[in-house]
Amino acid sequence: MAHEINTPLASIALRAESLLKVASDARLQAIDSFKNFPRYLKTIDEEIFRCKKIISALLEFSRVRRPETRVTDLNALAEKATDLVGHQMKLKQVTLSLKLETGLAHIRADDGQLRQALIALLMNALDATPPGGHVEVETHGDGADTVVLTVADDGSGISPENLDKIFNPFFTTKPVGQGTGLGLAICHGIVASHGGEIRVDSELGRGTRLSLVLPVSGGVAART
Ligand SMILES: Nc1ncnc2c1ncn2[C@@H]1O[C@H](COP(=O)(O)OP(=O)(O)OP(=O)(O)O)[C@@H](O)[C@H]1O
Ligand SMILES: [Mg+2]
Repeated sequence: MAHEINTPLASIALRAESLLKVASDARLQAIDSFKNFPRYLKTIDEEIFRCKKIISALLEFSRVRRPETRVTDLNALAEKATDLVGHQMKLKQVTLSLKLETGLAHIRADDGQLRQALIALLMNALDATPPGGHVEVETHGDGADTVVLTVADDGSGISPENLDKIFNPFFTTKPVGQGTGLGLAICHGIVASHGGEIRVDSELGRGTRLSLVLPVSGGVAART
């Protein structure tokens, strides 16, 4: 299905790109009715990019891949993920800090999937936090069998009536074109397939804490 949409999209993108090259020709630009062509073609290009993003999010969501678990250091994973979003945080003047528990138990997990879940939480925190705000990534052990990875922000918070909807696929409060509403649905799928759960604690106007609570054993995979 995604392939069937991606192929025509790719040829539209290709054509738009070559038209854009042609349309930038000074001779064409001299003709009044051609003036807007480069701008229109750029819009086509950007909108195709957006469609591609939505399709890959949908694909990700529909692919309930079994986690391929290996021994994973959640602290190292948190450092890597924060590295990836650090630049965007800085650009928005949001302070990103880490509070990682030393000696945290390593867990059995699919590190690629967990990193994706963590990045989704970080992007949400970034979106919700105004310049001057703070985002913190924390880890701690909870007994011998469980570890907790939390992303905390002091941003907008989530209204009580939305709190039980945020994990629903396609639920978003973001403007059209900015959110697909799949980030937390994907996170939920990933954490559930690791035998864990997500806890949310949020207060409107004060901020949000979203915690991935994960079994050290890797949950489902460990039972097979
Ligand atoms: N840290 C947060 N602070 C405030 N609201 C949040 C936070 N995280 C999630 N939300 C709310 O939950 C909704 C759903 O989040 P989710 O990540 O699933 O989708 P999205 O961010 O809107 O779109 P996408 O992640 O697909 O780009 C958001 O639109 C927002 O209203
Ligand atoms: Mg999101």
